[in-house]
Amino acid sequence: MEEIRKSRILIIGVTGYIGRHLVEASLSLGHPTFALVREATMANHPEKAHFVHGLKDSGVTILFGDLYDYESLVKAIKQVDVVFSLMGHHSVKQLEDQIYIVSAIKEAGNIKRFFPSEYGFDVDKVQILEPAKSMLGVKARVRKEIRMAGIPFTFVSSNFCSTYFLSRLCQVESTGFPDEEVRILGHGNTKVIFNSEKDIATYAIRAIDDPRTLNKVLYVRPAANHCSLNELVSLFEKKTNKTLKRIYIPEEEVLKKIQSSPEPLPFFYAIAHAGFIKGETCNFDIDPLVGVEATELYPDLKYSTLDEVLNQFM
Ligand SMILES: NC(=O)c1ccc[n+]([C@@H]2O[C@H](COP(=O)([O-])OP(=O)(O)OC[C@H]3O[C@@H](n4cnc5c(N)ncnc54)[C@H](OP(=O)(O)O)[C@@H]3O)[C@@H](O)[C@H]2O)c1
Repeated sequence: MEEIRKSRILIIGVTGYIGRHLVEASLSLGHPTFALVREATMANHPEKAHFVHGLKDSGVTILFGDLYDYESLVKAIKQVDVVFSLMGHHSVKQLEDQIYIVSAIKEAGNIKRFFPSEYGFDVDKVQILEPAKSMLGVKARVRKEIRMAGIPFTFVSSNFCSTYFLSRLCQVESTGFPDEEVRILGHGNTKVIFNSEKDIATYAIRAIDDPRTLNKVLYVRPAANHCSLNELVSLFEKKTNKTLKRIYIPEEEVLKKIQSSPEPLPFFYAIAHAGFIKGETCNFDIDPLVGVEATELYPDLKYSTLDEVLNQFM
């Protein structure tokens, strides 16, 4: 019997935060995996070059190119079935310029699924303050361009990345666990959805050939990972046998921080305000015409719970 060929996946942005998880997931699920990498990055960033060499050793086909080298995009896209773009949110322009990938996919004409750079709130729904509003607005415009171009897509709305948020117990202004005091935005009872980066990537790769995710938002909402800041702090206290002093920051103060904190804090406070105060990761039901939920589609995938992710840092 003829073996069914696994879909070939191109990842643009393998050296980034989410891209590294996607390439791992693509390889571990056995897909022929291609990475579009910038030559200048290889020349100027030894750690990234080392990572890319490691990918090559693991079987990833490395293609040199750039978002701003249109021919390189078309050439790379013609070799695969599925494209992931992982342009980062540090540059609104970079997100906006995914439009070049949209054009290249349209020209190539062979792509059966495109996953643009998303991995957060549902950008067609979220109510969020500036400066995050502009960035998410760009993601929403890219969605529109993809729909208008008639390109088959899946938009992954995976809410808050658990490693990133939990490694600092969701403290906007610190990079590690709190020692004595913890700052809680709002009353701390708003539920937020967290997902491990590895799980997000695995769900996304699982979705590539799934007709149920075609032209849909793939929401990642694991039941065990809906958690409020108060619950999270209690879990942390139980694990560390410590009691933290909880300092509650009222919404008015968070709004002032969004307006007057030094860069890049306003962006992160705006994201935190939407998630931890307004509940924008889970304050709506999924419309089945628009989206599907990942743990319902793939119940066999054992996702990492918040508890397990926190344990990794203990
Ligand atoms: N929900 C969450 O908690 C969360 C957390 C993080 C990210 N995200 C989202 O995930 C998505 C990806 O973000 P990220 O943090 O993974 O991004 P990132 O770390 O900044 O990585 C960006 C990637 O894009 C590549 N790139 C940049 N400019 C390029 C160009 N001109 N041509 C080709 N490649 C280029 C970079 O390659 P070089 O190495 O060559 O620069 C890098 O691999 C974003 O939409 C972001 O908003 C969500």
